[in-house]
Amino acid sequence: MNLSILKERFFELYGNPESNPRCFFAPGRVNLIGEHTDYNGGFVLPCALQYGTYLLIRPTGDAVVRLASTNMDFKTEIRLEDMGKKVGSQWVNYPLAIFDQFRQLNIPFSGFDMLFSGDIPNSAGLSSSASIEMVTAYALTVLLNAIELEMLDLVKLSQRAENEFIGLNCGIMDMFAVGMGKKDNAIFLNCKTLEYKRVPFVTNGFALIIANTNKQRGLADSKYNERVAECQLAVTYLSMNTPISKLGELSFMQFFKMQEIIPDELIRSRARHIISENQRVLNAVSALQKGDILQFGALMNASHQSLRDNYEVTGFELDTLVGEAWKINGVVGSRMTGAGFGGCTVSLVREDAVENFIEVVGREYQLKTGLKADFYLAEISDGVKEI
Ligand code: GLA
Repeated sequence: MNLSILKERFFELYGNPESNPRCFFAPGRVNLIGEHTDYNGGFVLPCALQYGTYLLIRPTGDAVVRLASTNMDFKTEIRLEDMGKKVGSQWVNYPLAIFDQFRQLNIPFSGFDMLFSGDIPNSAGLSSSASIEMVTAYALTVLLNAIELEMLDLVKLSQRAENEFIGLNCGIMDMFAVGMGKKDNAIFLNCKTLEYKRVPFVTNGFALIIANTNKQRGLADSKYNERVAECQLAVTYLSMNTPISKLGELSFMQFFKMQEIIPDELIRSRARHIISENQRVLNAVSALQKGDILQFGALMNASHQSLRDNYEVTGFELDTLVGEAWKINGVVGSRMTGAGFGGCTVSLVREDAVENFIEVVGREYQLKTGLKADFYLAEISDGVKEI
């Protein structure tokens, strides 16, 4: 990102070049394994990326927040008295959701000039929205000197913003990874207790490659909320046997013995995914700690199969991209990452096979789907910060 060009753009939009904006950055994230487990009180293993959202921001002292982005045409001005209202389905709802949380916490603020710029693909399952939310939350905390808010508070506040204001009943994984990320480490998080451990992601000789299906994710939010509701229904049935509040509380053996209590096969499959995926995260962490990259890759593959067959959140494009990756010599694991219904895959590829992987998978994917995939080399990076 060229920050001096970004600054020029900021001054073109808002004038007053004597008063410099501050610059903040929040990464996106890629989840290595542990998909759809977070809102079930389970385990996840995401890491922060080198890509994300930059924010130039300057307090103005007036009663208007001005929002613009280099990625979207839509820009707007919101008067403080209108805070709390959504603006259609525009991207500005993500920062506005955070302002709304600050308002609810009675943290006083006046106007700001804000320019966002992201180098992360939107709606691709790499948490561009959590990245916008967290960069806003962190910048406001610094500029408003709200020292009582620690990073974990910002993570929780951003999740509430997404649940209440945006209306997506997401879990905490994305914000947590964006806030707590650390270079070269994955975050092993227990989403029920929020205890976490950083696990060094040392994969000498292997690269982590993200591939974007570039499929438009129509209705993804409503399908996501549907899965959340299906898991709640599974909890209701299973609780007739053992009282639980989240699927993550059951081991696979416990579930296996009592699964027949769920009368509906579809709901049983949804629960089977969550409970088996939880176990896969535990196994993946121990594989990483032992340096057993082949085992780690095998667990990634099994995760994708379960997301495809039990949870049904993959679809033709993701399955094609992963299926083509599995055929390539030097690929130890490949799976969809994020919510699914389109978006990205993540693959662990031997370094000397990367070039061939990109060429062959890209070509075969385009032949089969008519879409062109984009490939990115993931570098595991730090969480949100001022730069
Ligand atoms: C989205 C949500 C997360 C998580 C993933 C699936 O990214 O925002 O909370 O549920 O999907 O693992």
